[in-house]
Amino acid sequence: MTKKITKKTTKSRAVCEPKCGVCPKGRTAASGPYTADVMEHFSRPHNYGKIKNPDGVGKVGNLVCGDVMWLYIKVGKNKAGKEIIKDIKFETFGCVAAIATSSAITDLAKEKTLEEAIAIDKQEIVQTLGGLPPIKLHCSVLAADALAEAIFDYYAKQNRAIPKELEEKHHRIKKEKDIVEEKYKDWTQKEEEIHNQ
Ligand code: FES
Repeated sequence: MTKKITKKTTKSRAVCEPKCGVCPKGRTAASGPYTADVMEHFSRPHNYGKIKNPDGVGKVGNLVCGDVMWLYIKVGKNKAGKEIIKDIKFETFGCVAAIATSSAITDLAKEKTLEEAIAIDKQEIVQTLGGLPPIKLHCSVLAADALAEAIFDYYAKQNRAIPKELEEKHHRIKKEKDIVEEKYKDWTQKEEEIHNQ
């Protein structure tokens, strides 16, 4: 008698083993060290692209790896007359975590007042994604800094007084950006050329 062998089709949604403890929710065998949310934002990034005639642009480079991000904002007003991020888009030349955090910050910042948007930090971004592997935590800095720079650019273009917290962030980011551009000169120039095509 021959035994019929039926192929089992199991969906691979099990949490990775061994658990790293970084991302308690959503990490699957298929997504490796990344949570399902990270992979979702990486595979289908939200608000990817440029904004025509943006009100503010933030361009930042990552000190650790040299990756670069551009973030564009359009500012409008809410019903209470407060300035809010009406539209936001990004372009990132970077890793899985850089793209996922860029996408996540656009969701977090949209419709927020400028003050609320300035307060978004890397911890909030990482939390939204359900965690990042420790080696990838630095990638979340790119998104937080790009948003701060875009808002700084908006205030500066309007000759407005810049909030102290934002001014301090800008000085730190500019210092790091200069180092990145010097350290990865050839690469950042290439990226700029590709970006402007
Ligand atoms: S390795 Fe460059 S931002 Fe992630």
